[in-house]
Amino acid sequence: MIITIANQKGGVGKTTTVVNLATALASIDKNVLVVDMDPQYNSSMSFNAYDANRSIYKVFSNETDINNAIQKSLIPKLDVISACEDLAAAEYELADDENRNYLLKKYINNITKNYDYIFIDTPPTLGLLTISSLTASNEVLIPVQCEFFALEGLSKLIKTIEIVKSNLNINLKLNGIILTMYDKRNSLSSLIEKEAREYFDMNVYKFNVPRNVTLSEAPSHGLPAIIYDLKCAGSQAYIALAKEFIERSTMDGNK
Ligand SMILES: Nc1ncnc2c1ncn2[C@@H]1O[C@H](COP(=O)(O)OP(=O)(O)OP(=O)(O)O)[C@@H](O)[C@H]1O
Ligand SMILES: [Mg+2]
Repeated sequence: MIITIANQKGGVGKTTTVVNLATALASIDKNVLVVDMDPQYNSSMSFNAYDANRSIYKVFSNETDINNAIQKSLIPKLDVISACEDLAAAEYELADDENRNYLLKKYINNITKNYDYIFIDTPPTLGLLTISSLTASNEVLIPVQCEFFALEGLSKLIKTIEIVKSNLNINLKLNGIILTMYDKRNSLSSLIEKEAREYFDMNVYKFNVPRNVTLSEAPSHGLPAIIYDLKCAGSQAYIALAKEFIERSTMDGNK
């Protein structure tokens, strides 16, 4: 099953969610691949797996085979395909290619069977890199930061998902919305939570991710927070979310 993590708003917790959810699932024996589709390559770095010479861009430009781009991470059962800065150029290099939206799907189809879950991390835009990720996916997961204006961009994102669904990928489903950086001392967090739950109802995950400093420190050690400090509140939240993630996927009859 292939899941894109998307939100065109920057810094809402997409990468943190990909990295820790993928790690939590690998730690319960699932075979997981993380594909970094963001030219900022933050998730590649978080796994200490940044490698511009065999990045997803090299796959797109036919300089390397996708199997050669797959790297083992430090975590058993978790593989990574790195991003690199050049990926940003794909947006205009492929502007005239009529198959550009199927870019990732074409390559990923060959390796889907090797994994229980493939997570795709995307940049904070709704351009080609995000659209081709959505086109290649079964489901989309949206992290939403508990901040003012958090819900503003969401209707545009939902509209984009609907457009992808009707034009490029009829099977695309919303896996859910995860509320991130929840601060229980801040009344704004609970206000945003209330609004999100009222509006998106069951689509919002039961568990929120708390604002937690360990989650932001772990990447500088090249480790997912779950490995760096399993006991911290952030790691524990992602472990709970991984269980809910599996329930949601099974609920829809997926693997
Ligand atoms: N729950 C959290 N508590 C504290 N800090 C967090 C939390 N989640 C993410 N962060 C930090 O907030 C910043 C943005 O998070 P992250 O990189 O995951 O967002 P993003 O949506 O992937 O950003 P971008 O749009 O730039 O790709 C990072 O410095 C990250 O370490
Ligand atoms: Mg990111």
